Amino acid sequence: MLDLHCHILPGVDDGAVDLPDALELARDALATGVRAVFATSHLWEKLFDTSPEHNYAEWKHLVRELKRADIPLEVFPGAENYLASDVSAAEFAKKAVPLGENGKHVLFDFSLRQMPPHVGDAVDALARRGLTAVIAHPERNADLQRDPRPVADWIARGALIQINAPSLVGIHGEAPAAAAADLLERGAGHLLASDAHHRRRRPFCLDRGREIAARIVGAEEAKLMCEDRPWAIARGEDVDVPRDVNLESRARGARFLRKLFDS
Ligand SMILES: [Fe+2]
Repeated sequence: MLDLHCHILPGVDDGAVDLPDALELARDALATGVRAVFATSHLWEKLFDTSPEHNYAEWKHLVRELKRADIPLEVFPGAENYLASDVSAAEFAKKAVPLGENGKHVLFDFSLRQMPPHVGDAVDALARRGLTAVIAHPERNADLQRDPRPVADWIARGALIQINAPSLVGIHGEAPAAAAADLLERGAGHLLASDAHHRRRRPFCLDRGREIAARIVGAEEAKLMCEDRPWAIARGEDVDVPRDVNLESRARGARFLRKLFDS
């Protein structure tokens, strides 16, 4: 599997604290069946004192150290770009750092509470630069838990939706679990990733997330979410998904949760 969202770079954000921690996280990734990751440290000016250049240098350093420690995890460069409410979509798209060197996909997140009004505009602005938006864990956003319909609009405009494995596993709590299950049930989740930060509190758990996803969408689709689509992104290829998604009804995750509790 290729885990396209994790915070494994040491000392740049709220993920791995130092090199030994990053190496242990890399071993954990391998133990969960992940053989490659994108290092997607936060690029979030107000919260983390780092830059694309600094993260890129740290990525190179980590790749060297993994080799030296004989840990066969492949690490690609990347970023989790933060869409702030006071930054225009055009400005955001201009600065966004893609997944992979010269990659075509841009992973981004935004506030977990209030959904900024210009997410769709950011998707369009990236597209105008030949880039495809990958929207990180919308199931964690409180506004979208109440009303997920904007997600359908972003998919129609060309975005891919990344669901957090820990949401399905229950690490983020009940509301994200139900919202994640609901998006998957209705074809509004295309990629699964661990968003790993910490060995115990926010671990690599793509294997457990994939098992739960497979119960909702079937094993074949779960494989697409954890293997085929992430690898296509790593190769800089377009990812083809159904664009017509209906998120009108409000039965969020209920069917899935019942199934889980009955089993
Ligand atoms: Fe993240």
